[in-house]
Amino acid sequence: MSVGERRTSSAKSWPLWGEEEERNVLEVLRSGLWGIGGRWAFRFAEDFARYCGCRRGVPCANGTVALKVALRAVGVGRGDRVVTSPYTFVSTVSVIAELGAVPVLVDLYENGLHMNSAEAAELAEELDAKAVIPVHIMGMPNPMDELQRLVNTNDVAVIEDAAQAHGSEWRGRRTGSLGTIGCFSFQSSKVMTAGEGGCLTTDRDDLADLCWSLVNCGRTPEKDWYESDTLAYNYRMTEFQAAVLAAQLSRLDGQLEVRQRNYRLLLEELEDIEGIEPVRPPEGTTRFNVYTVPLRLERKRIGSVDKRHVVELLRSRGVPSSPGYTVPLHRHKGVVGYCASLGIEPPHLPNADAAARDVLWIPHHAMLTDEETVTHIARSLKEVIRNIIS
Ligand SMILES: Cc1ncc(COP(=O)(O)O)c(C=O)c1O
Repeated sequence: MSVGERRTSSAKSWPLWGEEEERNVLEVLRSGLWGIGGRWAFRFAEDFARYCGCRRGVPCANGTVALKVALRAVGVGRGDRVVTSPYTFVSTVSVIAELGAVPVLVDLYENGLHMNSAEAAELAEELDAKAVIPVHIMGMPNPMDELQRLVNTNDVAVIEDAAQAHGSEWRGRRTGSLGTIGCFSFQSSKVMTAGEGGCLTTDRDDLADLCWSLVNCGRTPEKDWYESDTLAYNYRMTEFQAAVLAAQLSRLDGQLEVRQRNYRLLLEELEDIEGIEPVRPPEGTTRFNVYTVPLRLERKRIGSVDKRHVVELLRSRGVPSSPGYTVPLHRHKGVVGYCASLGIEPPHLPNADAAARDVLWIPHHAMLTDEETVTHIARSLKEVIRNIIS
């Protein structure tokens, strides 16, 4: 931990912050420019977009809003099909429903956590979908080769759900710059946070301008303040959020390196473990931000034990862990109900079912630690699993 960084007193030990956050927030407070008129949000979004390898960034209230604005910006509306993953946070699909569009859920790679890109691309073309949302789940990039072909031919918009993937890279390029528009979240659990917050990233000026308008009640910079071309909401980020995020961005790479070092060590320590298997980033990942360390229970070895029970045992040994997603989106009541209202049957997605049943998570802050703690985590995992198997 660098000088000035403080841990919260909560057991979660996240977020971390320091003098820079305190200084920035105080500067905003004393300026009296807490919202419109301030420069922090715009400056932060520009800096963050540059960090992602994009020319333009649009700050907004949260990641859900970023996804909704991005879909609207590429023209998704009532009845349009949008292809995405069933193993993600519910927002990825709720925004599709909110726009009256049709979610098309594609199963994951076998033993993976990402939507099968080849199937998604094929389906998107076959169904004449308006957009595809690859989700860089756990901070690991969704394989992008087939999806980038769609971006290059301009057939279908590719909206990256990069809510969890700040700083990750696919074949040397940062998430958020791999599709048509990237969408980020800065909600409390993320590797950089202001409690809440979001950002859209893109290289296209037309889309960046439209996103700006959709975040700002449909305003356009060249028109009167009280005249709107489009009906839209106020989804703006506050200056306080941006002041915190500017500081969080400055410590992102340093923390990412610590997490990567400890993640590699954890994988080494777990080399010979049986009954549970780390889910590794897909081939093509050149940088993994270690938002989450996902671990898959091997049913053949471990039997039918509920992953919640494994998590309880880990927590009792002081290992931060979570069952993660326990219900894939195609089984959420809200999603099933919405699809039924459109006359659509829930799809059969066995790999997503298996992921929700078998995959548990160790959160990123557990990797912001020292070698001794990583060794303790590995040892605890081995003990817990050994006790269950024997
Ligand atoms: C994959 C994914 N998509 C979207 C979101 C929505 O972001 P937010 O909570 O900032 O609205 C989240 C965050 O929780 C997420 O993890």
